[in-house]
Amino acid sequence: MRAPLCVTSVFFFLFCFLYELSSSKSVLYSRESLTVSSNQTLVSPGNVFELGLFKPNESISRWYLGIWYKEDPKRTSLWVANRVKPLTKPVGTLKFFNNTLFLFEQDNIPAVWKTNLTGGGVRSRMVAELFDNGNFVVKDSSDPEGYLWQSFDSPTDTLLPEMKFKIFDFFDSEDDPRQTLHSWSSPGDPSPTDMYSSFQIRKDLNIIAIFVGGNQMDTWNGYQFGDMPPVFELKEGWLVMKTLESSSSYSRLTIRTIRQGVLYELYSWNSEAKEWKMSWSIGEDSCYLKGLEKPCGSYSYCSKNDTSQQQCHCIRGFYPKLERLTWSHDCVRSTAIHCGGGEFVKLAKMKLPGTAPMVTSDSRLNLEKCKESCLVGCNCTAYALVENRKGERSCLNWKGELHDMRNYTTGGQDLYVRVAGLAANDHG
Ligand SMILES: *[C@@H]1O[C@H](CO)[C@@H](O)[C@H](O)[C@H]1NC(C)=O
Ligand SMILES: *[C@@H]1O[C@H](CO)[C@@H](O)[C@H](O)[C@H]1NC(C)=O
Ligand SMILES: *[C@@H]1O[C@H](CO)[C@@H](O)[C@H](O)[C@H]1NC(C)=O
Ligand SMILES: *[C@@H]1O[C@H](CO)[C@@H](O)[C@H](O)[C@H]1NC(C)=O
Ligand SMILES: *[C@@H]1O[C@H](CO)[C@@H](O)[C@H](O)[C@H]1NC(C)=O
Ligand SMILES: *[C@@H]1O[C@H](CO)[C@@H](O)[C@H](O)[C@H]1NC(C)=O
Ligand SMILES: *[C@@H]1O[C@H](CO)[C@@H](O)[C@H](O)[C@H]1NC(C)=O
Repeated sequence: MRAPLCVTSVFFFLFCFLYELSSSKSVLYSRESLTVSSNQTLVSPGNVFELGLFKPNESISRWYLGIWYKEDPKRTSLWVANRVKPLTKPVGTLKFFNNTLFLFEQDNIPAVWKTNLTGGGVRSRMVAELFDNGNFVVKDSSDPEGYLWQSFDSPTDTLLPEMKFKIFDFFDSEDDPRQTLHSWSSPGDPSPTDMYSSFQIRKDLNIIAIFVGGNQMDTWNGYQFGDMPPVFELKEGWLVMKTLESSSSYSRLTIRTIRQGVLYELYSWNSEAKEWKMSWSIGEDSCYLKGLEKPCGSYSYCSKNDTSQQQCHCIRGFYPKLERLTWSHDCVRSTAIHCGGGEFVKLAKMKLPGTAPMVTSDSRLNLEKCKESCLVGCNCTAYALVENRKGERSCLNWKGELHDMRNYTTGGQDLYVRVAGLAANDHG
């Protein structure tokens, strides 16, 4: 029907363009109600994203309000509204009541989902709008920039470019609301698992880390987390997701729960094949997978070789506590260190040792001063310079045993481990 309008003259081209624009809605006003289904959707103005109902499992009649990439024939959901309360029929109604946007099961009150507004006392007309970056926002029409609610503030399992992630203090439980990622329970069920992940500041150290549950996964080195491709920028206390510099295509970062823990996966949109292609996954990393169940022991770190098999290694200056170093067993010092003395083994591209209470931080020290600060202490076992939340280099000193380390092929950070002396204590 549309095609004949689009040929021949410029006039017709314009007409066609306007027709195209008006044929799909991207905005819902407060007096309207919108019937949503799989074919009645909101489409962002540039035709990039679509919001409507989808069914994650063909054999089960459960429908969810979600956002997907418009070109994606599979409608891979990037955000889900009613994660725990699916609609039982393939049609629902989006409608404002009292300045709150609700999703109803057609004529069936109560609502299966509603927005939590952060602004109060709204008088003028409310608007819900889907943008070309995939953000679905609710705002007061007299204040186009002040969003009262936005889907980017409550991501489900996926981060999209331009999404801003507030980095909150790990030890500060008051610092709510938090943006956390909860993976789907299964490929056919978007209800959230207990396993969650977020980007947080370790208040004791001022450094930024990815946490999964209560466990620190990777630290920010100023450019990336671990060996994850550099998809974030640090901007005024927020981590902002961006499209990879090496790629012109659109990307997304999604978490998935497996038996042992959580996987981060980076996908890029392939416009020829019209599908999401995985470009990086932490699940392809055998050190990560093995470490979820059983990390290497103390003073030992994991590395993987060309055949992608992983192995624990004692740090130079340490030897296996048992005769042979087997997986997850500890390493011990060849020679004890003395107060004020010792040298340092430099380990490159490392995942820094975990565990909280052993570390102190001072942001005023350079590498040489950081080394001195470690040598002065009797119990300091390692130091590193790490980029902190303000983008400054911060000196960390570890006190006590070093655990949960590994090396990467790319990324990671330099770690300097204290030993008595480098010449004397090599056990080969
Ligand atoms: C939209 O979908 C409904 C049910 O899924 C169907 O009955 C209706 O014919 C569809 N409308 C169009 C225009 O495709
Ligand atoms: C809207 O607010 C009024 C008055 O506060 C309340 O009685 C009514 O239940 C609210 N409606 C909905 C749908 O929440
Ligand atoms: C909305 O607010 C309530 C109460 O503060 C909270 O329990 C709920 O999780 C919030 N829902 C969303 C989608 O943020
Ligand atoms: C869909 O549901 C059926 C029945 O519960 C299940 O066997 C199947 O694995 C599910 N498919 C997906 C993709 O989750
Ligand atoms: C890779 O690691 C595995 C397991 O640790 C080991 O058996 C194998 O010999 C290693 N391969 C090479 C080429 O080093
Ligand atoms: C150093 O470690 C020893 C034994 O582990 C402990 O007794 C001592 O209190 C520690 N000193 C400091 C300054 O932490
Ligand atoms: C990781 O450590 C192992 C053992 O020391 C080493 O053989 C390997 O080259 C290191 N990998 C990288 C990428 O530096």
